[in-house]
Amino acid sequence: MYRTHTCGELRMDSQGITVTLAGWVQRKRELGGMTFVDLRDRYGITQLVGNENSTPEVKESLRKIGREFVIQASGTVRERSSKNPNLPTGDVEIELLTLNVLSPSEVPPFTIEDESDGGDDIRMKYRYLDLRRAPVRNNLILRADMAHAIRSFLKEHKFIETETPVLMKSTPEGARDFVVPSRMNPGQFYALPQSPQLFKQLLMVAGFDRYYQIVKCFRDEDLRADRQPEFTQVDCEMSYVEQEDVLKLFEAMTKHLFLSVKGLTLSDFPRMTYREAAESYGSDKPDIRFDMKLTDLTATVKGYGFKVFDEAEYVGGICASGAAEYTRKQLDELTEWVKRPQIGAKGLVYIKYNADGTLKSSVDKFYSEEALRNIAALMRAEPGALMLILSGAKKHTLEALGTLRIEMGNRLGLRDKTTFKPLWVIDFPLLEWDDETQRFYAMHHPFTAPKPEDVPLLDTAPGDVRANAYDLVINGVEIGGGSVRIFQSALQSKMFSLLGFTPEAAEAQFGFLLSAFRYGAPPHAGIALGFDRLVSMFAGLDSIRDVIAFPKNNAGRDVMNDAPSSISDGQLKELNIAVTIE
Ligand code: AMO
Repeated sequence: MYRTHTCGELRMDSQGITVTLAGWVQRKRELGGMTFVDLRDRYGITQLVGNENSTPEVKESLRKIGREFVIQASGTVRERSSKNPNLPTGDVEIELLTLNVLSPSEVPPFTIEDESDGGDDIRMKYRYLDLRRAPVRNNLILRADMAHAIRSFLKEHKFIETETPVLMKSTPEGARDFVVPSRMNPGQFYALPQSPQLFKQLLMVAGFDRYYQIVKCFRDEDLRADRQPEFTQVDCEMSYVEQEDVLKLFEAMTKHLFLSVKGLTLSDFPRMTYREAAESYGSDKPDIRFDMKLTDLTATVKGYGFKVFDEAEYVGGICASGAAEYTRKQLDELTEWVKRPQIGAKGLVYIKYNADGTLKSSVDKFYSEEALRNIAALMRAEPGALMLILSGAKKHTLEALGTLRIEMGNRLGLRDKTTFKPLWVIDFPLLEWDDETQRFYAMHHPFTAPKPEDVPLLDTAPGDVRANAYDLVINGVEIGGGSVRIFQSALQSKMFSLLGFTPEAAEAQFGFLLSAFRYGAPPHAGIALGFDRLVSMFAGLDSIRDVIAFPKNNAGRDVMNDAPSSISDGQLKELNIAVTIE
């Protein structure tokens, strides 16, 4: 037997008993003839102690061991003379009787303690060492607990967990596919799933009624803090349901998770149309922990001789309460911030509503005090507020204001990580026009159903058609998205043609789906939640990397095993891929 107890287990009531522990040496300290060792395993840390009375073997082993050695230690549990109130095991220590080295360790490249001295890169290179640290491991334990809670909730609601293929045919979801060459079919490729969208719909045609899967998805897109090339979805589909049924059930699941994992009771999730989200928050994933809504000032500010506003399609602003004290330097810096290419504003106009009731703006030359007061009234500004105004093309300016709103929310400390404000964003447009390629794209995916009342618009004004599509948003993060699906092959074919597919191309790519729809497809709808995003939100983290055991870096590399890497000429040949000759 390697151990009788774990390192997190012993308390005062075990005094006097002989125990055996096994684990990693976190620290060794010598103090006046005594040697103290912090022994760590997944469950905690227990102090071992050797002294003059220890056997020569124990003394020799104590001399040899260093950080991260794996040892097995036996001894007697006794009360510590100087207790550590920060450790659950801090009242006791083990007086060593035997000490075996099970596995030596080289000096680790960073300290493996809750607070590490290792930078991001080195910790990722030695991720297996990083994962020994309790805060990192706890994130993964949280992830496991959440997966468990989701499984039991969905099982209780009669969902069947079903695996779908990882080697499949490409499904267009907007991102690029990762592809895998087929040795047995020269020149042909599998695609890794961007999501199991088509399979889950086929499972509905197959009569499964309720499907779910906690499933890896793969997208070859630019990476950010909330995006990994391989990530996990809680993917679900239901038959004989409408949008309302899906929203209700997944709202209940989200509430269940918050309650069972975090002990938090959430009130009902508000719903907001895509249009309102865009116009009031400048985003389709509004953070509603704070107000600071966008105000449309277009009609109010025109006609004062200020060319920038007079010529703009849209002028809008946000009102940051309590920021009127911003200095010239801070305002200049904020102006530079909105001019960065990521936001791309041409400039920033401000109006300060001073605490003494006076108004001061960067456009005083054009706007009288009275005109400024009108704007302030429209923005519901109060003394002490700073109004920030942007102008330009409508869509772009709304987005820029939305980004500025989030930034001001951060700067003013309005985005508390322990507050959770979920909402449903609904009524997304079905299609999105792309100027560059001069065609429509599906905003969610090509299988999303239009609102029945908007179907006639498909022929006249496709851009105005709203979809029965919805997103679950929490604290400004898109946690999940889904839709009611098209289940009639005629409507699905029409959708493909709107998206620029010829009937032949649609048949070649989606023939199996269209064919399935000809054999009795039930009405169905579904949703997928980004599991990594959900876990990192629960953990209060900014990056989903911290809740993934072995994540990729921002260049899509696994720096630990150095993937992706070249493969041998032999492998390339076998796969019928031309060998490059240097
Ligand atoms: P969608 O593309 O909206 O929908 O994806 C669902 C959710 O998955 C998460 N997500 C990601 N998380 C981490 N890294 C990524 N690269 C990444 N991409 C997406 C987001 C997102 O809300 N098949 C549809 C769902 C459906 O219609 O049922 C789909 O995949 O949290």
